[in-house]
Amino acid sequence: MQFSLHNQLKKSVAQTIFEALQNTFAESDATVESIYNMIGPTPNPKAGDLAFPCFSFAKQLKSSPVEISKKLHEALGTNSFIEKAQAQGPYLNFFVNASALFKDAFPKIKSEEFFNQNIVENAPKTIVEFSQPNTHKEMHVGHMRNLCLGDALIKIYRYAGVETISTTFPGDVGTHVAKCLWYYTKHNDSQPPKERKGAWLGSLYTKGNNLLEEQKGTPQEEENRKELTEILKQIEKGEGHYYDLWKETKDWSVELMQEVYDWAKVGFDTWYWESDVDSSSVELVKKYYEKGLFVKDDGAIGIDLSEDKLGFCLLLKSDGTGLYATKDLELARRKFEDQHVDHSVYVVDNRQALHFKQVFKTLEKMGFEKAKDCYHLQYEMVELPDGAMSSRKGNIVPIQSLIDQMVAKIENTYLEKYKGEWTQEEIDNTANMIASGAIKFGMNRIDPNKKIVFDMDEWLKLEGESGPYIQYVYARIQSMLSKLNDDVEADYSLLVDPFEKQAMMLINQFNDVVENALKNYKTSLICNYLYDLAKAFNQFYANCPVAKAGEPGLVGARRDLSIACAETLKKGLALLGVEAPNRM
Ligand code: ARG
Repeated sequence: MQFSLHNQLKKSVAQTIFEALQNTFAESDATVESIYNMIGPTPNPKAGDLAFPCFSFAKQLKSSPVEISKKLHEALGTNSFIEKAQAQGPYLNFFVNASALFKDAFPKIKSEEFFNQNIVENAPKTIVEFSQPNTHKEMHVGHMRNLCLGDALIKIYRYAGVETISTTFPGDVGTHVAKCLWYYTKHNDSQPPKERKGAWLGSLYTKGNNLLEEQKGTPQEEENRKELTEILKQIEKGEGHYYDLWKETKDWSVELMQEVYDWAKVGFDTWYWESDVDSSSVELVKKYYEKGLFVKDDGAIGIDLSEDKLGFCLLLKSDGTGLYATKDLELARRKFEDQHVDHSVYVVDNRQALHFKQVFKTLEKMGFEKAKDCYHLQYEMVELPDGAMSSRKGNIVPIQSLIDQMVAKIENTYLEKYKGEWTQEEIDNTANMIASGAIKFGMNRIDPNKKIVFDMDEWLKLEGESGPYIQYVYARIQSMLSKLNDDVEADYSLLVDPFEKQAMMLINQFNDVVENALKNYKTSLICNYLYDLAKAFNQFYANCPVAKAGEPGLVGARRDLSIACAETLKKGLALLGVEAPNRM
């Protein structure tokens, strides 16, 4: 992906360096863009805010990096964003005039221009597939990690100017469905409840699974196996009582999923279903078998990927049925050919790492040009303090019950004091916003390759790196601003306190953080940044009184700095799908 020169400070400093280079070393072929990309933070903040390393020019300019830095320093023109420049060994360091920078940035923050730049240039059309739970099972806290990661990633892409399609691929066929329907038909004697039928269905799956395990090794086993095969066959054929039951019960699961999506305010542009690609995926494999790409082994068809150290990937069993990988080939074909995407992201847990390597490699061998731009964004499991969750075993925290518990807890603690003062509706809305903030922030905050141990109390804390903490800082700023006279004129040159500078510099970095998050598929960078900014605001506010600043120009400048902090926090939260409440 190619990024624009969106950072005004870096762009302006790059221009100044570029001119100095031109004047000093006529042979230099550096461009403003290449210089922009080399400017970074100084390793030691005491030595400056930005550093420009001179190593890479040494060869071309036939001069030592130390010499280059010295000469450039002498030739530097003035730049209103720069207070002072210093040649330090092979580096050229800059001290930023943060108040001049803020004076330039604030109107753009207010008008949102700052947040509406295209960060990516020539953006590839992207599809992100996420939250693909299986039907006939209940969604649990673990599924939330996928949902939160995928949704945030899509929001970040779109913010940066990348056309992005959101999609899902629920598993509505397979042995888990058969086990559930088997138990439903053969062993269940209770009636489905009126509401949340999908959750009840999920419990039948768990019971079915347990009973099948128990009956292993008994004379029942063979009969069970036959029945399961029969169920799968009817679903595949699209006829029979099991097929009818499958259709009816699938809707119950989808309703339950939709409830979660509505609560999380997440939507998909298109829905793909495993059942939908099943038969065409078999045809696709046959076609490529005819072409000679796949091989037959003992009646089964697959592809030998041993040259790529990926083993053998089975695609058709000897009875002619496809496998999970088979469906993924057809799914990818549809994404490439029907949606015309250039870049395809799959948010799926890390247990499927080999599966996706095999699928992507097979797609490449099938000649799909964009196979190289497929990316498996993998993440580790979510565990409870007492161990792993599994719907097979039944020790899960269903999402709905988690949400209910969280909302109740928030209402009885943080919002307790507003009962009677606020309407119940505002209390409910705010409680849901905070619960959503806790979950979405908590799920994104941890690097995807690390396990999450889900601890509700920790996630709801108002201090530390949590969603509610950021939301709380935002609400505090709103409350402070509402008491402030908003027509005093700001004099930004009065913003000289180090805590003011820290906040202004962080605000300036917002779009760089977005760029890094995209480059590295790391939504956690947004969380870390928001935490730093919220802390920086608190430090500023504790050390620099706003209403009581004295001089009106300073009151105005600090007011605007507070507004800018709040707006940036709000934008950043929005990238995670989190709303910022005005009061809490
Ligand atoms: N439904 C699958 C599961 O729960 C995940 C699907 C992932 N997406 C894909 N294209 N294979 O394990």
